Amino acid sequence: MKLPLKIAVVGCGGMGTGHVCAITGMGAYAEDAGITVYRAAYQGQVEVTPLDGKLELAGIYDIDPARVAWAQSHGFKCYESYEEVLADPDCDIVLIALPNDLHKEYSIRAMRAGKHVLCEKPAMLSSQDLLDVIEVSKETGKVFYPRQNRRWDYDYIMLKNVFDQGLIGEVFDIESRVHGSNGIPGDWRHEKARGGGMMYDWGIHLLDRMLDMMKPRKLKSVYCRMRYATHDECDDGFTAVFTFENGPEWHVEVGTWNFEKLPLWYMCGEKGTVTIKDWSDMDGSMSILKKFEDENLKPILAGEGLTKTMATRSSDSVVTTKCPPVIVNRNELYLNLVDACNGEAEQICKPEQTVRALRLMEACFESSEKNIVVNFE
Ligand SMILES: NC(=O)c1ccc[n+]([C@@H]2O[C@H](COP(=O)([O-])OP(=O)(O)OC[C@H]3O[C@@H](n4cnc5c(N)ncnc54)[C@H](O)[C@@H]3O)[C@@H](O)[C@H]2O)c1
Repeated sequence: MKLPLKIAVVGCGGMGTGHVCAITGMGAYAEDAGITVYRAAYQGQVEVTPLDGKLELAGIYDIDPARVAWAQSHGFKCYESYEEVLADPDCDIVLIALPNDLHKEYSIRAMRAGKHVLCEKPAMLSSQDLLDVIEVSKETGKVFYPRQNRRWDYDYIMLKNVFDQGLIGEVFDIESRVHGSNGIPGDWRHEKARGGGMMYDWGIHLLDRMLDMMKPRKLKSVYCRMRYATHDECDDGFTAVFTFENGPEWHVEVGTWNFEKLPLWYMCGEKGTVTIKDWSDMDGSMSILKKFEDENLKPILAGEGLTKTMATRSSDSVVTTKCPPVIVNRNELYLNLVDACNGEAEQICKPEQTVRALRLMEACFESSEKNIVVNFE
């Protein structure tokens, strides 16, 4: 077993810089850069196992002189070409944090040069591209690790915990969404050929988590509408309905032109309902039915009509609490990567799982284009 493994960050833009900071322990970067850290509210439950002695930065490679200057100002090694990265005997893993259309070529070249690969999402632009990359991984014996980091998001793990423990009984409806109002970021994400659009950007995270949470259930069908509110070429959001064998039904939504946000999560089961509002309001609210009959229920005058059906239940029939807290280890993905490269562990994020997520994205595009329900599995 080799330790520490050394990783070269290729593409040191927004995400690559985040990796450099996480790997080198420059945790203060986000605050220094004036970035609001929404983790503060649930810090107590977030662990950060130090990477010391396990994973170290070999250096960075970027074609933008400004990013090179930033890396040099922190004393990091800067490669002059990708060939130099691949020829460096000190580098064990190449981290691909490049625009999406470059992931395939750069991953294949890295594995053929004897390097393992950690690849940013979306791993590839199509399921076939990823199957090609998996072939190279098998041929070379090198790890290809798709970075599905949002499986470690606190909100996801907290909701999954409620689901796995059956705290609200049999679940029949789950809504998973992200809402913003800034449109598509004004970079390569505007270009379809470069893997632009929100399905590739956020959709892959939300679909990956849904498939992860539902495994081993089969996904029966998909109906999706892509949205083009701000852009003609690339989707700036979508709404999709996914039906699993024996339930539940998932409603997944990404919106970048939503000036009022709906909750990140909304989950309904036979015994209750869970809501997780936003990254800034992460405790989650869980209402659980104590008894079905509510003798104290009285009709309310709602709008211009009287209703008992929609009246709020009394507190002796429903109890509302926060969701049980969970523990998240923010560095688990890096640690699993190191163990997988050393043949000591199975990958938590497997390329075959990402093939399934990419196939599902393709089904979403087809559904939206033809305005049909697509049978999936
Ligand atoms: N997992 C996540 O949470 C997450 C979040 C943000 C971005 N990402 C992913 O990370 C990747 C990069 O996104 P970003 O937001 O950092 O983009 P970005 O545009 O900020 O950074 C890309 C960097 O790559 C450099 N670059 C472009 N072509 C290059 C080449 N041929 N050789 C070397 N460097 C080159 C650019 O100069 C730039 O610095 C994308 O795949 C994106 O989807 C993942």
